[in-house]
Amino acid sequence: MISEALARVAASRTTAMTDRAMELRAAGHDIISLSVGEPDFATPPHVIAAAKAALDAGDTKYTAVPGTQRLREAAALHFQRDLGITVPPSQVIVSAGGKQAIFHALLATLNAGDEVLIPAPWWVSYPEIVRFAGADVVAMPTDAAGGFRITAAQLEAAITPKTRWLLLNSPGNPTGATYPAEELRGIGEVLRRHPQVLVMSDDIYAPLRYTPGTHATLAVECPDLAERVLTVSGVSKSHAMTGFRIGVSAGPLWLISAMARLQSHSSGNPASISQAAAVAAFEGPQDFLLDWRERFRARRDLCVAALNAIPGLYTPVPDGAFYCMVDAGPLMARFGDDEALCLHLLEHGVAVVAASAFGGGAGFRISFAADDARLEEALRRIAKALT
Ligand SMILES: Cc1ncc(COP(=O)(O)O)c(C=O)c1O
Repeated sequence: MISEALARVAASRTTAMTDRAMELRAAGHDIISLSVGEPDFATPPHVIAAAKAALDAGDTKYTAVPGTQRLREAAALHFQRDLGITVPPSQVIVSAGGKQAIFHALLATLNAGDEVLIPAPWWVSYPEIVRFAGADVVAMPTDAAGGFRITAAQLEAAITPKTRWLLLNSPGNPTGATYPAEELRGIGEVLRRHPQVLVMSDDIYAPLRYTPGTHATLAVECPDLAERVLTVSGVSKSHAMTGFRIGVSAGPLWLISAMARLQSHSSGNPASISQAAAVAAFEGPQDFLLDWRERFRARRDLCVAALNAIPGLYTPVPDGAFYCMVDAGPLMARFGDDEALCLHLLEHGVAVVAASAFGGGAGFRISFAADDARLEEALRRIAKALT
């Protein structure tokens, strides 16, 4: 018998779709998966070399629970250089992916009956972690016309005395929505009136932005609020290191200490080899990112043009990350719901994820982190399946 807490949690539907695609592939079908959220690029060679060197050096033992001093310093450098956040290494925690940091931060602070505000469509794990913690999810709907971003007025209307967290994700998964500095300052003004609200700023996709200009983040735009902002980052998406399982977070000391206390009883320290590799990722050359970003941008433009040319589909241009959130409302009369539409696409050889899995409306998310030829073929198949 599973616990009441786990009974409140649904399995990840992105994983379910990937598993189904794998089954069909194993049965001999040619399936192109646009359902998974990881870059198709190889991990940079200097990162691989650092992992090998760590193994050879016998760097295979427990480390400090919140991460090695070396990596916490490298992460502090990353927060400063890439996000503009000045933070001492003592206010940085290293965890097994950004996911674990989010899990620990919420579990460490939420009580039954607390409310957590989540802009929808959302990253699949946010609401499930909140429910596991016994708190209530308060969805804040957004739409393509509004750039999939919440407004300050919407936030003000949603906050109650029970609100404990606001989860912000910029650039966002699954929409690519990216908050400009002035909108963050507007959100900050509202937050100043509600000191009980903590903010998770999930900036894990910050290096993958396509609009020129510097990335805006709440801890920088509203420094007076930094004491209640946890900024989550990592190497999974930016450095194609999803399998290494390293995330880094910066925040107030009390929260970082609380997360470390929980981490000490869950996973303990993040993998020592992965930590050495992440030091190389943060301290090594970053110029490959320019090339990756350009290639992602070209794929994004290809996807947006091809999808918007299919009658019944509409996708706005995402500002960051590597996803398109596609509205397929006009096709619902034909398919019934977006799950049925996604199964239809799977039969035509393309795996995508239904928008409803992300708390969104009728449609689907595609990940354009796939190689160019496969992406072009997938777009042809989608067009054929729907016209
Ligand atoms: C918005 C967002 N946050 C956090 C994560 C967690 O990343 P990881 O645990 O792989 O570092 C992901 C991964 O898909 C994500 O999309």
